[in-house]
Amino acid sequence: MNVLLIGSGGREHALAWKLAQSAVLDTLYAAPGNPGIARHATIVPLDIADHAAVARFCAETRVSLVVVGPEAPLVAGLADDLRAAGVAVFGPSAAAAQLEGSKGYTKDLCREADIPTAGYVRVTDLNGAIAALSPFSLPVVIKADGLAAGKGVTIAMDRAEAEAALAAIFDQPGGEAVIEEFLTGEEASLFVLTDGVHLMPFGSAQDHKRVGDGDVGPNTGGMGAYSPARVLTPALEQQAIDTIVRPTVAAMAARGTPYSGVLYAGLMLTDRGPKLIEYNARFGDPECQVLMTRLDGDLLPILLAVAQGRLDTVTPPVFSAATSLTVVMAATGYPGTPVTGQPIGGIDRAEAAGTTVFHAGTRNAGSDVVTAGGRVLAVTATGDTVRAAQAAAYRGVDALDFPGFCRRDIGWREIAREGE
Ligand code: AMP
Ligand code: GLY
Repeated sequence: MNVLLIGSGGREHALAWKLAQSAVLDTLYAAPGNPGIARHATIVPLDIADHAAVARFCAETRVSLVVVGPEAPLVAGLADDLRAAGVAVFGPSAAAAQLEGSKGYTKDLCREADIPTAGYVRVTDLNGAIAALSPFSLPVVIKADGLAAGKGVTIAMDRAEAEAALAAIFDQPGGEAVIEEFLTGEEASLFVLTDGVHLMPFGSAQDHKRVGDGDVGPNTGGMGAYSPARVLTPALEQQAIDTIVRPTVAAMAARGTPYSGVLYAGLMLTDRGPKLIEYNARFGDPECQVLMTRLDGDLLPILLAVAQGRLDTVTPPVFSAATSLTVVMAATGYPGTPVTGQPIGGIDRAEAAGTTVFHAGTRNAGSDVVTAGGRVLAVTATGDTVRAAQAAAYRGVDALDFPGFCRRDIGWREIAREGE
């Protein structure tokens, strides 16, 4: 069968790498793609905002499945328009993608379905927001309502900082915000596939969102990850599925907006059990890179079964017992404005050193591969322990000639525990 993959980041390179190994794949197409994805897929010059053009392409090239990587096309209704044109899609409808697209929507759903999450209020104007702040203790969490690429959250240590964050949100026309109770604990990401009815746990990971070693500095889209996240024990995972994910899938179905695709639950493991921090309507980036490199067997039949509403007919995935770990190579300036157009050397050497190098923000310039975004590469390796996987990944990192930076401590929490 022919498959079209939508997206151009490291997550999509990992999906392309895995889909290209499928026994049932004929041709993999990708749009917009990147130079790494181009090693596994035929890049097609489609405007993914033009849903009718994507549907026409699928009809003309007999594409049986479209896999949507990023959230923005989902929130824009690409999956709805393709389904209306008779194309199977891995990814939720615009209505269901509200679980990622609107923090307030998700918080209200949690309240309705009694799902454990931080206490909150939704606010729609600055005066109301400042009044609503007073019952919260410090620190307090301020979130812009809409999609913000991981950058719309402020953890305010004092009221002035909270008020400044709210003022910045309400400076924008139509600004909406959520004020939240600050949760303490360790974070873990849980991935669950669902066709709207059936659930299939699909692995765990731990991301590193802050830009600097030791988890300091501004938030990013993610500077590195490893999988599995052993801190999410089988018992805690089951508790999160039973108290958070399953009630969410049931509530979405009951609302007439069933959720189909991968549901990525960002969890805080508090001393009172797992609580939902946020949902994403897609695989994590770079969490997808570590999930795909641990997944044994064929991804494509599973994604097709999700898209066709028959997830109960496929055998559950087998993930290798090994740890996979990925280090994000970021361009100078990230998470602010990245320096682009700088040549990257040594990708072949990093792969010869035993890593898989996924491309995120790269492009070809003549015979060079150059930086073209904030997060540029994800250097990925596996090992029997997190420590071994980390050592292997940094051997790849050190083989690169890279014009930017990376964190040197990916996996540190688990390595500290392994050392105990
Ligand atoms: P989000 O975009 O909602 O995932 O938030 C980004 C990051 O902010 C999370 O990964 C957490 O580290 C932190 N965060 C968000 N909400 C809370 C909360 N209620 N309590 C503590 N930390 C939070
Ligand atoms: N790495 C975090 C995310 O994909 O949202």
